[in-house]
Amino acid sequence: MRVLSVVGARPNFMKLAPVDRALVKRDVEHVIVHTGQHYDAGMSADFFEQLWIPQPDHHLGVGSGTHAQQTAVAMQRLEPVISDLHPDLVLTYGDVNSTLAAALVAAKLQVPVGHVEAGLRSGDWTMPEEINRVITDRLSDVLFLPSRDAAQNLDAEGIPPERVHFVGNVMIDTLCWALPQAQALDAPARFGVSGRPYAVVTLHRPANVDDADVLRELLDALNRLARQVPVLFTVHPRTRARIEGLRLRPSTDQALQLLEPLGYLDMLSLVANAGVVITDSGGLQEETTFLGVPCLTVRPNTERPITCTHGTNRLVQPRRDAILAAAERGLRRRSPARPIIERWDGRAAERIAQVVCDGERFELDAPDAASRTPRHAVAIPQPLGAG
Ligand code: UD1
Repeated sequence: MRVLSVVGARPNFMKLAPVDRALVKRDVEHVIVHTGQHYDAGMSADFFEQLWIPQPDHHLGVGSGTHAQQTAVAMQRLEPVISDLHPDLVLTYGDVNSTLAAALVAAKLQVPVGHVEAGLRSGDWTMPEEINRVITDRLSDVLFLPSRDAAQNLDAEGIPPERVHFVGNVMIDTLCWALPQAQALDAPARFGVSGRPYAVVTLHRPANVDDADVLRELLDALNRLARQVPVLFTVHPRTRARIEGLRLRPSTDQALQLLEPLGYLDMLSLVANAGVVITDSGGLQEETTFLGVPCLTVRPNTERPITCTHGTNRLVQPRRDAILAAAERGLRRRSPARPIIERWDGRAAERIAQVVCDGERFELDAPDAASRTPRHAVAIPQPLGAG
């Protein structure tokens, strides 16, 4: 059996790693194609190395551009690869432009498409990721769900239930695999924050960083928070460009550290020991929930509501006072108990391999005994500081 995985951007790589290992263990010929949407070592190659992902078999060098340019170039360069290799299945991951490009090309070549992390919905059409999710799911023959609530979204869109497999969360597979190595690195000691509460920050969504007023307000909140606890802000290239564009005077307050993007293990080490995480990333909402670390997501909505209803995640408006109040609450809230979310157990990729190789089904009917996750409705979370 030949399976071809297409990845392109940083959040794809943590999802690919456990799937690659599970497929290779079953003697599947697993071809990895990297579109090159992310190309800096710190956003791409370092992740392959740390997560033990083999070098991509094909690197398409797509690079940056507008959404249409990036998607179009990825499609043009993927088409001959998929057509030459005739894989039995093309696997796509998450919700980035490379995900959509791969699903479109494979579907038009009539190659079956599998989508890892299917069914998540924010309901927010201003997010390019939401468009990518909906269309990728519609084009997919096999849909691998990270959480039970995703099934309702697919059902509402008329996706046939026999295509849907509730396998669990592959991000958590990678986290479980990497946590001992990450803890041994002791990143908090290297960043001088060992043994005390600190905040970890990542922000890169256009809604937060492309509007100068919003970005100023967010930086103001972080500077003020840094008077209380050290704040480690790992800065995405897009965000760094926008901050430089603001021409702010460098802060004299050393407690707000602006860092380059971190590798997976350093980031995990910092997050696992943080007092609070402030982010607009998708993956961090899940990782903090699994680790029991309070998380503030600076967005009006989330495609991962289970992290709010059953985890440690809270949505917050991009307003200084709302963020400060929520961060202070988060810093007080940290408890050693970790939420248990159904099938976030380190074995999701193994289930994917069972579906792909053995035709196994992972139905939605039987909730796991240990789970506290409801079988149906997950309420829609509202952001703090709204109105
Ligand atoms: C993409 C994903 C987003 C994901 C994020 C994680 C889409 C629609 N969005 O957004 O879902 O959360 O990745 O990082 O696919 N750049 C570099 N070096 C790189 C990559 C990017 O400098 O290695 C800069 C470029 O200036 C580029 C900008 O970052 O124009 C944005 O990169 P892009 O891949 O277009 O989107 P992200 O904002 O990273």
